[in-house]
Amino acid sequence: MASLVLKHRFFVAFVLALSVFQMASASDPDILTDFLVPQNVTPDGNFFTFTGMRSLIPVDTPTAFNVTKASAAEFPALIGQSVSMAVLEFSAGSVNPPHTHPRASELLFLAYGSLEVGFVDTTNKLFTQTLQAGDMFIFPKGLVHFQYNANASDYAVALSGFGSASAGTVSLPTTVFSTSINSKILAKSFKTTVSTIHTLKRGLIPSKA
Ligand SMILES: *[C@@H]1O[C@H](CO)[C@@H](O)[C@H](O)[C@H]1NC(C)=O
Ligand SMILES: *[C@@H]1O[C@H](CO)[C@@H](O)[C@H](O)[C@H]1NC(C)=O
Repeated sequence: MASLVLKHRFFVAFVLALSVFQMASASDPDILTDFLVPQNVTPDGNFFTFTGMRSLIPVDTPTAFNVTKASAAEFPALIGQSVSMAVLEFSAGSVNPPHTHPRASELLFLAYGSLEVGFVDTTNKLFTQTLQAGDMFIFPKGLVHFQYNANASDYAVALSGFGSASAGTVSLPTTVFSTSINSKILAKSFKTTVSTIHTLKRGLIPSKA
């Protein structure tokens, strides 16, 4: 009986250790100091403060889809801390096209409006949901996902947290059609004509993301 309890405890400890290891290996590498400071910077409260989102409060009605990021690039104090954030503003009817974040999962909190969200797993199964304000949705690390504000008259605002200081964004339309991949290769890949590929390429304004 006692050995059974012991075995059970060992199993629980083993599972816990395994899940801790998985958590540890699912984030940015651990740093060996409390925080990292760039050379020639003496950290004070300001170093740990990001003010780049003040212009979003109060929220003006957005005129297009717009992302404002606080990642390692904009906020160097995040380097080594395995977290970052973004504010996503959706004008009525706007979309954040299919994309992935290769280095992080994304936890989205919808603060205002409604959003249709979804991701596709590696078996090509689609998971979708219509969110209302107050809801959260998790986009697993590396999977293709999107958000769409289907409301034709009202905007939406969401906050997203990422499990990496530098989650990275791979936008499918941009990556495929705005990077000079040969149109013949794309036509073969998408089983269509070169002229259709040219139409798709022309339709994409070069994006900064
Ligand atoms: C996006 O938001 C930033 C503020 O974070 C603002 O400066 C910029 O003009 C906005 N762009 C659009 C297209 O609304
Ligand atoms: C769009 O938003 C408005 C204002 O929030 C709301 O009254 C309306 O029901 C929404 N329409 C749809 C189709 O969800």
